[in-house]
Amino acid sequence: MTTTPTLPPAHIALRGDLLDFTAEPGWGVVDSGAVRFRPDHWLLIENGRIQGAQAEEPGDGWERHDHRGRLILPGFIDTHVHMPQLDVIASYGTELLDWLNTYTFPAEIRYADPEHSRMGAALFLDALLANGTTSAVVFATAHKVSADALFAGAQQRGMRVVTGKVLQDRHSPDGLRDDVVQAEQDCLDLIRRWHGRDRLAYAVTVRFAPTSSPEQLAMAGALCASDPTLYMQTHVAENRDEVKWVRELFPEARSYLDVYTRAGLMHKRSVLAHGVWLDDDDRAALRESGAHIAHSPSSNLFLGSGLFDWRAAVQSGSAVSLASDVGGGTSLSMIRTMADAYKVQAMAGQRLTAWKALHAATLGSAQALSLADEIGSFEPGCVADVCVWDWAVDPVGRRRMDVATSLHEKAFAWMTLADDRNLVEAWVAGSMRHRRTAG
Ligand code: GUN
Ligand code: ZN
Repeated sequence: MTTTPTLPPAHIALRGDLLDFTAEPGWGVVDSGAVRFRPDHWLLIENGRIQGAQAEEPGDGWERHDHRGRLILPGFIDTHVHMPQLDVIASYGTELLDWLNTYTFPAEIRYADPEHSRMGAALFLDALLANGTTSAVVFATAHKVSADALFAGAQQRGMRVVTGKVLQDRHSPDGLRDDVVQAEQDCLDLIRRWHGRDRLAYAVTVRFAPTSSPEQLAMAGALCASDPTLYMQTHVAENRDEVKWVRELFPEARSYLDVYTRAGLMHKRSVLAHGVWLDDDDRAALRESGAHIAHSPSSNLFLGSGLFDWRAAVQSGSAVSLASDVGGGTSLSMIRTMADAYKVQAMAGQRLTAWKALHAATLGSAQALSLADEIGSFEPGCVADVCVWDWAVDPVGRRRMDVATSLHEKAFAWMTLADDRNLVEAWVAGSMRHRRTAG
């Protein structure tokens, strides 16, 4: 169920097991002081913002929702996902470059139609909420109308969304190719109408280096330089054939990532998806610029792209956020994404704690996006984007929870077994925007 916009009741209290983070958990640390777990507490929401938390039941002035025995988390943040790609999720048999040409580009062409864009945006945003994702950094399509539809849909739902019209002026089919002059005008118009409005922000959205001419990359860099509050999003070093192609297209650049550095696209609001095939110099460039990698494990597995070295990123001092990358990824659920992230690290001989994964999907992403004063935790003053989850919904899950002997064991089993069926309610800025219909 997704409700139409309503004014939130002024005082709401949610009872349950509150879990959020006050700092970044260390790699491999299961007994982390960064975890703030407040079992059976009341989370107090005043005028759409977190006011605090307490063990005692608040008084009559509060609209009380008793979810005792349930898990209450900050809404998830998906830092890289494609609105139009619900139409191609779970497509068979290809790696990145074939997948783009065979499935993705044809599907995105259809978003030139405003009605198609409007319906696609509504379906997408409601699906995010149904998975407990209340904030997202999103690719629309090359069409201005698709970004307009996404901004309007997010505004209607009160969600924190960062998006932009995709820039791609070469190596793309008719109907999906823009040109530098028109693209710049479209960006400027979208920025003027949407950037900084309510909970929306504009991202200069370069699809990836192969589909933008050097002139278009320079235009994108100039846009970023014109306003440091703009975000930038793109893909980098996802797939080996793609990396080889970039080397041929940009022989002057030291590396794929260096193409973006040279164009002025690397700054602290830059979100780069994947980064599977980076080297130490790239990771140093990430740290120096303040840009970060949106790790997309489901997509990397599904498209056979490779195993991201999360630990090397941590050691280099650059941030890592977590992303579904639907439709390369196969689920909008950030819980399924966390479970895939664990498996990717396991394949690479590493172990990802539940804390590292949950932090990356909440406070870690908020910090990487310079939005920690608004989203990602239950700090007083943050906007009340809050999700209520069942610890378990079936006999196997319940049994596993019953035998867990530590909080980390329980949280890890939850992250490995749960999905959207565990979501009971999603609140956005203190308004309930999704409620499970059965159970
Ligand atoms: N690289 C360029 N475009 C895309 C896309 O749509 N999805 C993924 N996973 N990688 C890309
Ligand atoms: Zn992507």
